[in-house]
Amino acid sequence: MSWHSVFSIIGCPLGLLYIFNIVLSHKRRKDLKGKIVLITGANSGLGKACVATFHQAGCRVIMAGRNHEELNKVREEVIKKQLPDTFSPEILIMDLMDYKNMQEYVSKGLKIFGQIDILINNAGVSYRGEISDTQICVDEKVMAVNYFGQIALVKEVLPHMKQQGGGSIVGVSSVQGKIAIPYRSAYAASKHAFQAFFDTLRAEVSSDNIHVCVVSPGYIQTNLSQNAVCGDGSTYNKMDSTTATGMEPGLVAQRIRQAVEFRENDIVLAPFLHKLVMCIRTLCPSIFFLIMCYRAKSGKKQHSKCK
Ligand SMILES: NC(=O)c1ccc[n+]([C@@H]2O[C@H](COP(=O)([O-])OP(=O)(O)OC[C@H]3O[C@@H](n4cnc5c(N)ncnc54)[C@H](OP(=O)(O)O)[C@@H]3O)[C@@H](O)[C@H]2O)c1
Ligand SMILES: *[C@@H]1O[C@H](CO)[C@@H](O)[C@H](O)[C@H]1NC(C)=O
Repeated sequence: MSWHSVFSIIGCPLGLLYIFNIVLSHKRRKDLKGKIVLITGANSGLGKACVATFHQAGCRVIMAGRNHEELNKVREEVIKKQLPDTFSPEILIMDLMDYKNMQEYVSKGLKIFGQIDILINNAGVSYRGEISDTQICVDEKVMAVNYFGQIALVKEVLPHMKQQGGGSIVGVSSVQGKIAIPYRSAYAASKHAFQAFFDTLRAEVSSDNIHVCVVSPGYIQTNLSQNAVCGDGSTYNKMDSTTATGMEPGLVAQRIRQAVEFRENDIVLAPFLHKLVMCIRTLCPSIFFLIMCYRAKSGKKQHSKCK
């Protein structure tokens, strides 16, 4: 068989699938003016950028987070700009580790503007370490914030969205929700679980006019690596060069806004190389595993230890 025919056998169906995907995902633009948006992790990084972006789009923003002082600083920065036709954001204290009390947090959130139209599950914690020296309580913490807290929030908001006739739920995952890399076990596992939950959710609520989108960014310039938890439970406290040279949080926030406006289902915001690796993971897993083994060996000193 010639290369030409191999390409047409593989290429044609892939090309058709690609076109089908574009046709299926094409939706009409929704107006965001006046919509009520709840954003978690609103005090820093991507969450903070989302507050500014949705505020500028004319949304009524509920900023959820743990630290009132930090949230208020962001709130004041946003109000200072005094843009026409915008609403002052409001603050909602919410600790995702305390997800057993989610009902209380959400009922407070609903009282602020009366409902929630758009939920942006953005808060998250990263992790650094090797599986063999990571305490199970660290895995539990990462799962609590990145998975259980997120799904508890979705479960509490969902009945209200159904009752009001629709809404949008955005989950901020990561490229590591699609591929798992060495020395990030807890983080990658939490984001994989997150993706799976949202994929199920998307299907289940599609008849309720509720739009679900998973956003999987590559590196973003935030404090995520500094705030990462290490295998022994300490804080990593270092800015990784990958994070420092990542995407601008503002650009990612704009893309999230677009995903809500156009009701997109699943977006990956990453360089071509990351997308290629995702493809290899699906189509030729053995090659992916080889690359990861190499990466684990070459990056052992650099990535596995916190101190
Ligand atoms: N930066 C990247 O390279 C990157 C890449 C892919 C995906 N992401 C994802 O983007 C999202 C935002 O992260 P970021 O990059 O903006 O990092 P960040 O600046 O560290 O922000 C993380 C946010 O999550 C909040 N948070 C942590 N634990 C919490 C808890 N128990 N309860 C409530 N909130 C909690 C933090 O609040 P406190 O300040 O109170 O801790 C903070 O607001 C995360 O889901 C992350 O996984 C980031
Ligand atoms: C990172 O943390 C510092 C100190 O807490 C804060 O001043 C800064 O705004 C944070 N950066 C981002 C992008 O959130």
